Amino acid sequence: MASEKQQLSMLSLACVLLMLVQEMSCLASTRSSSKMEVEALLKWKSKLDNKSHSTLSSWNGSSPCSWRGIICDSFGSVARLNLSHSAIGGTLQHLNFSHLPNLVVLELTNNSLFGNIPPGIGDLSKLTYINCRQNNFSRRIPTQLGSLRSLQTLVFNENKFNGPIPSSIGNMSSLRNLDLSSNQFVGSIPKEIGMLESLNILVLSTNDLTGSIPTTLGNLSTLQDLLLYGNQLSGPIPLEIGGMRSLTRLQLLGNNLTGPIPSSIGNLTNLSNLDLSRNMLSGPNPSSIGKLINLKSLSLFRNEMSGVLPTEMNNLTSLTILQLGANNFVGQLPPEI
Ligand SMILES: *[C@@H]1O[C@H](CO)[C@@H](O)[C@H](O)[C@H]1NC(C)=O
Ligand SMILES: *[C@@H]1O[C@H](CO)[C@@H](O)[C@H](O)[C@H]1NC(C)=O
Ligand SMILES: *[C@@H]1O[C@H](CO)[C@@H](O)[C@H](O)[C@H]1NC(C)=O
Ligand SMILES: *[C@@H]1O[C@H](CO)[C@@H](O)[C@H](O)[C@H]1NC(C)=O
Ligand SMILES: *[C@@H]1O[C@H](CO)[C@@H](O)[C@H](O)[C@H]1NC(C)=O
Ligand SMILES: *[C@@H]1O[C@H](CO)[C@@H](O)[C@H](O)[C@H]1NC(C)=O
Ligand SMILES: *[C@@H]1O[C@H](CO)[C@@H](O)[C@H](O)[C@H]1NC(C)=O
Ligand SMILES: *[C@@H]1O[C@H](CO)[C@@H](O)[C@H](O)[C@H]1NC(C)=O
Ligand SMILES: *[C@@H]1O[C@H](CO)[C@@H](O)[C@H](O)[C@H]1NC(C)=O
Ligand SMILES: *[C@@H]1O[C@H](CO)[C@@H](O)[C@H](O)[C@H]1NC(C)=O
Ligand SMILES: *[C@@H]1O[C@H](CO)[C@@H](O)[C@H](O)[C@H]1NC(C)=O
Ligand SMILES: *[C@@H]1O[C@H](CO)[C@@H](O)[C@H](O)[C@H]1NC(C)=O
Repeated sequence: MASEKQQLSMLSLACVLLMLVQEMSCLASTRSSSKMEVEALLKWKSKLDNKSHSTLSSWNGSSPCSWRGIICDSFGSVARLNLSHSAIGGTLQHLNFSHLPNLVVLELTNNSLFGNIPPGIGDLSKLTYINCRQNNFSRRIPTQLGSLRSLQTLVFNENKFNGPIPSSIGNMSSLRNLDLSSNQFVGSIPKEIGMLESLNILVLSTNDLTGSIPTTLGNLSTLQDLLLYGNQLSGPIPLEIGGMRSLTRLQLLGNNLTGPIPSSIGNLTNLSNLDLSRNMLSGPNPSSIGKLINLKSLSLFRNEMSGVLPTEMNNLTSLTILQLGANNFVGQLPPEI
């Protein structure tokens, strides 16, 4: 019995020792990953333009945690790279993402970076935030982005990206904020975007997108902002739009949308800004629009709408902007407006 007990305690001692060894090898691997991180960052710096070298003069030696724009986690591993508004010039070709395994934030807003986003970006499995706004990035965005399952914010606006929006984007299941506006994206809006259940903000405005608005977007019940203006989207506004019941801003102006405004729009009771102007929408204004009691701004000008304005519009007591011109409405505005 006693020896059995002894064996048992020996066993648990062995377990503790084993855990310690594992812990130590884990620490050792973060240390060696730091060396890898330093090499990756210095290599990238060496390929940037001369002005960037002076901006990044603190990038020297072997302790990246004190370098400009870098924040480390509690293990001393590089967790955030924030070089916003730093006039950094060059490409991302020589930044080996697989050497920055603990990167959580990549913030590059307003620099002079150009070229493509390398497919290796898909290796940043812990990334929750990436912002490349206001640079000169171009070409297609890589399908490998789809493997970033932790990503919550993807902001690529004001660049020169082209090609289609990859359907793999539907695999980024944590995404809350997706902004690809002011680029040269072509093709249609991938229906897979409707799989992004946590999405709050979807901005694809000012691109060259064609095709119709996918019905799957109706699944985005937590979406607050849907901005698709300034494209060449055609076909009708899908009735499924009534499923996006958290919407506060819906801006589809400046497309080639046809058909009537679906009456399901009345489901969007949190809507405060509705802009469908400059399309080819037809038919009457649906009476359900009177349910949008939080509406502050309603723009329908320059369409082909007709009929009498519904008296239910009297209910829109929060309206401060109403633009209905260049349509074929008849009769008078409801008197209370
Ligand atoms: C950049 O620096 C290198 C070496 O210091 C120099 O040879 C080169 O002329 C510089 N280029 C510009 C554009 O200043
Ligand atoms: C980098 O650091 C070394 C020593 O720490 C120093 O001699 C060297 O001048 C530094 N280089 C730059 C570019 O700051
Ligand atoms: C990046 O740094 C700027 C300036 O210090 C700061 O305003 C911004 O919030 C930072 N961004 C992120 C994502 O941490
Ligand atoms: C962009 O960054 C530069 C510094 O490189 C700064 O002077 C400029 O104001 C920034 N522009 C915007 C729009 O933030
Ligand atoms: C990044 O580093 C890994 C491992 O060292 C290497 O296999 C890979 O080719 C590198 N990738 C790039 C784009 O340099
Ligand atoms: C982008 O490139 C254009 C021309 O190639 C240049 O005029 C512009 O300054 C660049 N913008 C940035 C933010 O680097
Ligand atoms: C999304 O992920 C699944 C599972 O990993 C994969 O089979 C599929 O090919 C991915 N879809 C796209 C469009 O990349
Ligand atoms: C999303 O919407 C489509 C079309 O409206 C529907 O067929 C599909 O079942 C929905 N998917 C999910 C995951 O809710
Ligand atoms: C509108 O809302 C009702 C009640 O909440 C719901 O049953 C209906 O499915 C919604 N319509 C659409 C098109 O989502
Ligand atoms: C509508 O807005 C109110 C107040 O901001 C919020 O509490 C509510 O959850 C929103 N409803 C939906 C369906 O998002
Ligand atoms: C959109 O409408 C414009 C003007 O009517 C037309 O030139 C263009 O070809 C249309 N685009 C599509 C994709 O239908
Ligand atoms: C809206 O207005 C109509 C007629 O003007 C009225 O019958 C209806 O009860 C109102 N609905 C709401 C939700 O206030």
